[in-house]
Order: sequence, then structure tokens, then C-alpha cells
Amino acid sequence: MEVIIRPDVDRAVDLVVKLIVALIKEKPNATLGLATGRTMERVYARLVASGISFADCRTFNLDEYIGLPPDDPNSYRTYMNRHLFDHVDIDRANTHVLDGSALDLKKAAQDYEAKIDDAGGIDLQLLGIGVAGHIGFNEPLSSFMSRTRDKSLTPTTRAQNAEMFGGVSDKVPKRALTMGVGTILDARELVLLATGCAKSSIVAKAVEGPITSMVSASAIQMHPNCKVVLDEGSAKELQGRDYYDFVFANEPKWESFRRVDN
Ligand code: GLP
Repeated sequence: MEVIIRPDVDRAVDLVVKLIVALIKEKPNATLGLATGRTMERVYARLVASGISFADCRTFNLDEYIGLPPDDPNSYRTYMNRHLFDHVDIDRANTHVLDGSALDLKKAAQDYEAKIDDAGGIDLQLLGIGVAGHIGFNEPLSSFMSRTRDKSLTPTTRAQNAEMFGGVSDKVPKRALTMGVGTILDARELVLLATGCAKSSIVAKAVEGPITSMVSASAIQMHPNCKVVLDEGSAKELQGRDYYDFVFANEPKWESFRRVDN
């Protein structure tokens, strides 16, 4: 794992966007794993502004609320359309978001796994982190071998996402379909972005704490190609900060990122 700490949210977002753009330039038909949440809104805005072509890309989103049809204003399908798909040249048929209104959720989950396999797997999986320590909607005790399935959301997660539901936690769906931790770990590269002081404690647990299913994001420590991109606020509880900064300042592969960024 590599931890890259940028001075502010803008520069953290900028670095993530550059990683995605670099991948698409190298592999125009890349398969991207996408995430939702407020943190990612800036990433998508910047990706749209970059003008990069998604014409040959395929995408798979991490998760979706159960009970919300795709055209619900709060569904993650609507979120993706609004923030990315409506503004880029991607073929809508190549965008995949789980259907939370499916009658047979088990089948929807299995079909999703099959589609990811058919696409040859995910090249780069973008991740946020919830204050409950989840990646996707893998709430505490999610098996690290889990595949796409339905999960009950924690009260913490429902409270965190209440803002999108008029500030009322009770209006947040109680369950979601989510890629499993195992599904996420199968991606060839993981890029986790977290920003803001409210995430500093859970980021420290995920990055430096014990690997435990109580913090499903800690599973990323087992991934051989994982980058965690942070701003100062979300990084403030990390113990190994000096070393992470040293690596970013010295590793040749980060040179162009440092140069453009500073
Ligand atoms: C939701 C998503 C997660 C995401 C999290 C972070 O819970 N299911 O995949 O990581 O939001 O949200 P935010 O960026 O709004 O803090």
C-alpha cells in the first residue's frame, strides 16, 4: 500500500483524477470500478473537465440501495448519471450499477459478478470510506471473502448518508446491494480517496490498524497494488506520516505527479 498525502482536498482529488486519466490513456478500454458519496463528486467533476474519452471504457459501481428503482433521485444510478455519465461519451450500455429494485436480489448479485468476470475483471477500483469503516457497503463483520450480496446498513452509515434523504436517517434505506470485500480485492488496482477531519480516525484504523472485519476497509492492506490518497485533515491521525511523505517525494514513478501538482 502507498499513502499519498496532499496539502488540501483539491490536490488530493487532482491526483486521483490523474491516476484514472493515466490509466485510460494507457488502456482506452479500461474497466473502472466506481464509487459514490460526496467525496467522489469532485472526482467526477474533474474527470468531466479533463475531456478524457470514456468511449471504450466499461464501469461497475460498488453498490446500490435496496428498494430504490434506478430512476429514484437518491439511487446511485441517478448519482452516476448526474455526476459522470450524462457528461461524458461513455456508452450507457457499458455502465453497470446494481439494481436495488430487482425482485431476485441474489440473482442480481450473481449476475453482477458474472458481468465483471465477462469484462475481464476490474482494472482500477475507486473507493471511498464510510465512517463505519466500510468500503462499498461492506459493513463491520463483512467476510473478506464476500462476493456481491445484500447487506443491512449500520445506524452510523444511515446517519452519515441522511443528508441525501432530507437529513432524516430513517428515510435512508435499511439495506443495500454491494460488491463483496473479495470482489473489491480482485480488482487489479485499488485507489481509496478520503478527505476531511471526520475521516481521520477511520482512515488510521483502515491503513495502520489491525486487519479486521470490524473495519472492512482494513482489507485493502492485503492488496498488492493499493493507493490511499488523503488530504491533511483525513491524514492527521496516521503514525507513519514521515515515511509516506518520503516515499511520495522520492519514488521515481511519482515524479510527474509531484511536478504537475506543486
Ligand atoms: C457511501 C458509499 C460508500 C462511500 C461512502 C463515503 O456509504 N456506499 O461507497 O465510500 O458513502 O461517503 P462520503 O464520500 O459521502 O463520505
